[in-house]
Formats: sequence, C-alpha cells, structure tokens
Amino acid sequence: MKRKIVFATNNAHKLEEVAAILGEEFEVLGLRAIGCTADIPETSDTFAGNALQKAQYVKEHYGYDCFADDSGLEVDALDGAPGVYSARYSGGGSEENMSKLLYNLTGKSERGAQFRTVIALLIGEEPRYFEGIVRGTIIGERRGEGGFGYDPVFAPKEAGGLSFAQMTAEAKNAISHRGRATKKFAEYLLKEETGK
Ligand code: IMP
Repeated sequence: MKRKIVFATNNAHKLEEVAAILGEEFEVLGLRAIGCTADIPETSDTFAGNALQKAQYVKEHYGYDCFADDSGLEVDALDGAPGVYSARYSGGGSEENMSKLLYNLTGKSERGAQFRTVIALLIGEEPRYFEGIVRGTIIGERRGEGGFGYDPVFAPKEAGGLSFAQMTAEAKNAISHRGRATKKFAEYLLKEETGK
C-alpha cells in the first residue's frame, strides 16, 4: 500500500501537478479528500510561517504527514510588497491587484521583482522547508492571456521578454518559483523517505 501524505490545499491543479511527481510512491490527498473544509488560518508575515501553519493544522487535527505551500510576488521598489499579502493586495481580484501594483510603480525605473514559494513539510517533529524563486521584471502593461494572478505583468528573466501569461503551462512550470520549490521538495521526499 502506498504511504499517504496530505497536501494542505484545495487547488486541484496544484494537487495534480504534485501527484504526477510523487504518485508512484505516495498517495497524495488534498484537504477535501480528508474531509477538511475548515478555513485554515494563515496569519504569519512570512511564507514559511504560513506554509507551516497550514501543515501543522492538518497534522494536529487529522494526524497525517503533511506539506503545504505559500507563494507571492516580492517587488524590489516596494520593499518586497505585496509578499505574503499578494492575494489580498487590493481587496479585489487579480485585475485590481495588478492595477494597484502598476499604479504603485508609476514613474519608478526600478522594475525588479521575484516570485517566491516556500513548501513546509511535516514528517516527525522538525519541519523542513523548500524554497523556489524566479527573478524577473514588472512590465508596464498586461501581456498575454494564460496563467493567473500577476502573470500578465511579470516577465521572468529566462523568457526573453515574454510574460508568464504568454508562456505555456509547461514552460512556466520549468522555471517558476512553484516548479522549483516542488522539484526540491519531491527530490527530498523520494530520496529521504523512500530510499530511492
Ligand atoms: P498561493 O500561496 O500559491 O495561493 O499564492 C498567493 C498569491 O500570490 C496568489 O493569489 C497570486 O496573487 C500570487 N501568485 C502566486 N504564484 C503566482 C504565479 O505563479 N503567478 C501569478 N501570481 C502568483
């Protein structure tokens, strides 16, 4: 029987992506699959803190080994904002978030930014963290139709001027913050926890 591990998310796309990597060795269960419908608190001011909070909630209430992620956009000229507040930056949706971001950067020549993901893994007592970062620039207007969140205004430095929203999902995953953190995490889990 495969070993069960919970990914503390309700995002079907994220679950699918991780299950595709870990699926041979682990049965990856989402929150819905374990009957967790709670709105798990995320009150930390760091990505690692929020990811750990979610993993700890599942461990405490359901007893499973668990991992969780937290991501966001950190803009150099805004001292790392919106950071952990990326989803809630404007109080509206992605369109309003991008509008607020572009407005706050009006007239600023410094356009550097990065997306960051931290995954917290709880197996045993001590949490382990895995981080992925992708550097790029905030472009002056929205470009592309794909992706989600801030993708239309973020051009990763590896993509020759394309925004994340102009890339295929595969091309984005290969260089993205989430893709990089997931790769490190999966390598660790498969090697250290299954001996492969
Ligand atoms: P989450 O922790 O993965 O849910 O990400 C939190 C927020 O950061 C999202 O709601 C988006 O606003 C932003 N974000 C995280 N990853 C991405 C990405 O790959 N593209 C665009 N926005 C992202």
